[in-house]
Amino acid sequence: MQVGIDKMSFFSPQHYIDMVDLAHARGEEPDKYLIGIGQTQQAVAPATQDVVTMGANAADQMLTQTDREEIEEVIFATESGVDQSKSAAVYVQKLLGINRYARTIELKQACYSGTYGLMQARDYVTLHPEAKVLVIASDIARYGLNTGGEVTQGAGAVAMLVTANPTIATLNQDSVFMSDEIMDFWRPNDSSTAVVDGKFSANIYRDFFKELWDRYRAQTSRDLNSFKALVFHLPFTKMGLKALRDVLPEVSEEKQNALLTSFEASRHYNKQIGNLYTGSAYLSLMSLLLNDDTLQAGDDLALFSYGSGAEGELFSLTLQANYNQGLITNQLPELLEQRTQLSISEYEQMFASVVQGSTNRALDITHDHAKFVLSGVQDQKRQYVEQF
Ligand code: CAA
Repeated sequence: MQVGIDKMSFFSPQHYIDMVDLAHARGEEPDKYLIGIGQTQQAVAPATQDVVTMGANAADQMLTQTDREEIEEVIFATESGVDQSKSAAVYVQKLLGINRYARTIELKQACYSGTYGLMQARDYVTLHPEAKVLVIASDIARYGLNTGGEVTQGAGAVAMLVTANPTIATLNQDSVFMSDEIMDFWRPNDSSTAVVDGKFSANIYRDFFKELWDRYRAQTSRDLNSFKALVFHLPFTKMGLKALRDVLPEVSEEKQNALLTSFEASRHYNKQIGNLYTGSAYLSLMSLLLNDDTLQAGDDLALFSYGSGAEGELFSLTLQANYNQGLITNQLPELLEQRTQLSISEYEQMFASVVQGSTNRALDITHDHAKFVLSGVQDQKRQYVEQF
């Protein structure tokens, strides 16, 4: 029996900034951001969107009523959670009307935990072939105004339904993974922004990828020619390109060009959204599926997931015959088209308006067009509202 991703859906807030504007405001050459970092736009989350609302807004678009009745587990991966105790999954269960006999859990290991959630889901469904598991990876990447990491911020959520006989892709049982205690990126409990040793983190990412790729090759006897495309966690899209270039010399020039072309498809949406932390590799997978028109049923893809701190995993997926039917037609192009551009000063005000702590606060939700929004905090409880 094959198990894998049956449906995928995406959500990101309705505001963005242009990287040329940000470069001008920060006194940098625009090409540093556009080419050197590989980002053109960046999603900006208003105070009315957090990981719970973004996750619910992503999943709601793909779930049928039957799915909501049959889901057995909700696995919520995030590193920008809203509570130290209660999981985002249990908020989402209520917002989405998922049955009360589902398990709910939140996972954390920087940008990696979405992959762990996916593997847990695969293993559960392998043991329980009738089961459906909802995996949500949702994050707001915040480094702070005027920091080196600012150009690599972003926000959004990817939702995936894992089942037997999946529509999109099977998750193959060939993962290699590794962990090592490294201080490349972390976020202390009293900080809403990440602490990062930027260049160190980028070097560790490449080291993990190379070590896992070599281990994967040794354990499976497969090589780059086995894959139609490599999909990467993309904290900024140049990061994936650097990792890919590290292994390209292993194949012919023709295959190198094919892999580079697929890589361009896989970073198309990430360039315009920014870092999603846990969801980034899966937005990249969606981007590949939606923008590479040379993909065919049976193609194998390799996916590299990396979470600072640090943990990495590399595994393969096999595309299914009607993979496009597991995606929502025009979801990403329409979302991008409907976004509103912010000036840098508007973005700076929005950035500072984020809900922190548990003091009573009422938020103006009239400008947020999403179905699920955060309307404020009352008696130390976050107030979630369904608008339509
Ligand atoms: N035209 C074209 N390219 C230019 C340019 C120009 N005018 N000016 C500069 N560049 C290039 C530089 O040559 C450099 O390219 P290479 O990396 O290929 O050498 C690139 O632009 C970036 O320049 P700098 O290295 O000088 O940039 P920086 O010092 O401002 O920092 C950064 C870049 C370290 C990525 C920083 O943005 C950062 O700290 N980001 C957050 C950390 C991060 O994303 N780490 C990734 C690995 S960790 C991870 O993956 C987990 C996670 O999600 C956080």
